[in-house]
Amino acid sequence: MAGGLFALKISYVLSTALVLPITQGALYVSTSRVRVAAFMDAVPMKPGQLLVDLGCGDGRVLRMATKRYGIKTIGYEVNWMACLIARLLCMGDRTIKIKRKNFWKENLSAADVVFCYLYPDVMQRLSKKLISDLKPGTVVASCNFSMPGFTPSNVLRPGGSLHNDPLYIYHI
Ligand SMILES: C[S@@+](CC[C@H](N)C(=O)[O-])C[C@H]1O[C@@H](n2cnc3c(N)ncnc32)[C@H](O)[C@@H]1O
Repeated sequence: MAGGLFALKISYVLSTALVLPITQGALYVSTSRVRVAAFMDAVPMKPGQLLVDLGCGDGRVLRMATKRYGIKTIGYEVNWMACLIARLLCMGDRTIKIKRKNFWKENLSAADVVFCYLYPDVMQRLSKKLISDLKPGTVVASCNFSMPGFTPSNVLRPGGSLHNDPLYIYHI
């Protein structure tokens, strides 16, 4: 039991450290279900639309969104441990694609909704990429960190004191 936990911790540390040059500080930490639910209440989606999670972790945002709205989803994830967990948890659902890829190298123009929970150091660069990639009307939700140069249409503070960090919603 203790050996298993130790192995899990080592795997977490190694998988996180190996991709730090790409993630620039965005660790594999999941958004609470309260916050994901608040995001989905604020951003209704229609079947046929595409939600992209930039760094999908265990894929929970994708699963909750497909379950609630019947949409298609893509999650990019470079951390092999997070990617493996996401693929296992999303197994059997053909509307969810988990790509072990660096989203900076991908074209995001097909997205109708973009979700991210990253790190302050990358937000400036992300604003530029989203302006260049996304079509007008695309909705962007960013957990905790605002997008420089964008004006939010809504700032959610879901939940109690534990889950009260801002969740910014933008319309491109
Ligand atoms: C804070 S976690 C958020 C996980 C999930 N989106 C959620 O809200 O539960 C950020 C994730 O983004 C991933 N990530 C960061 N930069 C990435 C990149 N350039 N390409 C793919 N994944 C990235 C990290 O590996 C990490 O698992």
